[in-house]
Amino acid sequence: MSSSKLPANYRVRVERVLDGFLPRGDITPSRLHEAMRYSALAAGKRVRPSLVYASGQALNIPLVALDRIAAAVECVHAYSLIHDDLPAMDDDDLRRGMPTAHKAYDEATAILSGDALQALAFDVISHPIAEVSAQNQLKLVKILAVAAGSEGMVGGQAIDLASIGKHLTEQQLEVMHSHKTGALINACVVMPTYCDDGVTEAQRNSLTRYANAVGLAFQVQDDILDVEGDTETLGKQQGADIAADKPTYPALLGMAGAKLKLRSLHEEAVLALEDFGADAKLLHNIADYIVNRNK
Ligand code: IPE
Ligand code: IPE
Ligand code: MG
Ligand code: MG
Ligand code: MG
Repeated sequence: MSSSKLPANYRVRVERVLDGFLPRGDITPSRLHEAMRYSALAAGKRVRPSLVYASGQALNIPLVALDRIAAAVECVHAYSLIHDDLPAMDDDDLRRGMPTAHKAYDEATAILSGDALQALAFDVISHPIAEVSAQNQLKLVKILAVAAGSEGMVGGQAIDLASIGKHLTEQQLEVMHSHKTGALINACVVMPTYCDDGVTEAQRNSLTRYANAVGLAFQVQDDILDVEGDTETLGKQQGADIAADKPTYPALLGMAGAKLKLRSLHEEAVLALEDFGADAKLLHNIADYIVNRNK
């Protein structure tokens, strides 16, 4: 596992695209639009948009065809973080190095800004994309909807909250993590495969295998960083899972067991990319980043 960084060009690109799609803060209702911009444009790592662009690059999809997909997944993600931090959920005060949305604004505004970011995601991804057929674009909308919904991210969040203080088996923990975090990450990698009819089932299957491995690895490392990270680097409170008695990989398997799991998921992700050769270099780098990151 060589260490690496995320490609800065993808972060810069999606932030420019997001800035263009988010309603300006002076448009009515201003406070709501300001809150949406506050959360979505805060210093996130942009892992999900980077996966969209890197997956597209492995398939030779032009970047312009990927911009709306990248921005849409980041809107869904930003909304999920706002709601995740609410008092009724994880009750956190710090996010992306700043007060959480309900602290900077108020609970109602935080809830509504999350709602509106989710709606904006579907507005952005349903606008015609010149390079993608209408039929394929409908598939993109559906993939994002399923990944975000009760059988994807929101379902995982429900399992997470229902599991506080409980002992889960490793299989149950994997189900929870692959829903709450894996589903959206999977969509990031798979959506670009619907941007070009020339993509083969074999390519889609390999990318799905890669996505499932990095999606789970992402949350395993998130759990590890809750124990080993520091609040300033993370931009969110270290130790929050321990304080809330959340089931996590280190809690279930011990730190050594969690790291072993992480290594085997990384191996699985790299193996899945074999057939792509050099075209998958960026996806490989992101897999390295996901398991080595310190924030
Ligand atoms: C945090 O996601 C929530 C999880 C799914 C673990 P990120 O670690 O990608 O958060 P940002 O976007 O960089 O703030
Ligand atoms: C959040 O998981 C997953 C989401 C869908 C937002 P966590 O609750 O572990 O995320 P952090 O640690 O607060 O970022
Ligand atoms: Mg949570
Ligand atoms: Mg949380
Ligand atoms: Mg966490």
